[in-house]
Amino acid sequence: MTELELVQKALDMRQYAYAPYSHFRVGAALESVDGRVFTGCNVENAAYGSSICAERTALVKAVSEGAVRFRRIAVAGDSEDYCWPCGACRQMLREFGTELEVLAVNRDGAYRRFTLEELLPHSFGPETLS
Ligand code: THU
Repeated sequence: MTELELVQKALDMRQYAYAPYSHFRVGAALESVDGRVFTGCNVENAAYGSSICAERTALVKAVSEGAVRFRRIAVAGDSEDYCWPCGACRQMLREFGTELEVLAVNRDGAYRRFTLEELLPHSFGPETLS
């Protein structure tokens, strides 16, 4: 899948967002090194803290289907600004490597590209524990 196709998938996934509280829809598309693409959206909950972001939805779908090596993730929101992954999502993605490319997409499909290392420098990961 091309970078632009991954970005489009993230934008499209916003349609499934369950966001009755924030009204901020987010979509994500995570590509594993073997070319599979796992999608996600934010799923909110009346007990606000039980909500989950789009990136983590995509990540848990991927890991639960056996994918643990990833190439890139696109994250698209409803805002004029790029959709920056929150801290919890950065940390959870970091578990699987710091070289992941992160495409932060705005509502018009414009995006910026970073590595996870750039977004979460000096991070805590599995290597620290070994
Ligand atoms: N949200 C995400 O899905 N991903 C992020 O990285 C930032 C925030 C969601 C969580 C919540 O449902 C809504 O956006 C507003 O914070």
